[in-house]
Amino acid sequence: DSAGLQRASALISTTPDFPTPGVLFRDVTPLLADPRAYRDVLDAMAEPFCADGDAPGFDLVAGIEARGFVMAGGLAAAAGTGVLPIRKAGKLPNPQVTVEYGLEYAEAAIESSGDLTGARVLLVDDVLATGGTLRAARTVVQRLGGTVVGSAVILELEELKGRTLVPGCHAVFTV
Ligand code: PRP
Ligand code: MG
Repeated sequence: DSAGLQRASALISTTPDFPTPGVLFRDVTPLLADPRAYRDVLDAMAEPFCADGDAPGFDLVAGIEARGFVMAGGLAAAAGTGVLPIRKAGKLPNPQVTVEYGLEYAEAAIESSGDLTGARVLLVDDVLATGGTLRAARTVVQRLGGTVVGSAVILELEELKGRTLVPGCHAVFTV
């Protein structure tokens, strides 16, 4: 409920000028450590993709290393689906797919493997900033043969307009 979400949002910390000057760093770690807030946020992220009483509208939850893993695991376990870990480059021996993208403060690439033919995939991450990470993750899923049914994040930094790169994204909190 909205009171629960408001309580959860108060647990997100903000640090200016990290990791580089001018960047306002949002940290969801205190929210994750709070059992009620973690549960409330997971429920709110899944809600638009789970009609009442029906099976969830996705078969797999894709989480983006590293902080997206924490949301993907919890969300998938609650929904009764599996998880697709989308890794940062260099962690997998033979990734089937690699997608490069620009971050707010660095260049990066993400990778994954697997046959996602016919799978409806929900993408999750902690924060939507420029949108580059989620857009790259969507490309990873599509190249593996999956269909992205939507994206859910805890926190969206609206002023960066990342949503324009990620159509259909659902944010629990918007700053
Ligand atoms: C942060 C955050 C999102 C991404 C959002 O991850 O967790 O994944 O940036 O930024 P974007 O919308 O501008 O792409 P980061 O790459 O810093 O790494 P981490 O999750 O491993 O901490
Ligand atoms: Mg991340």
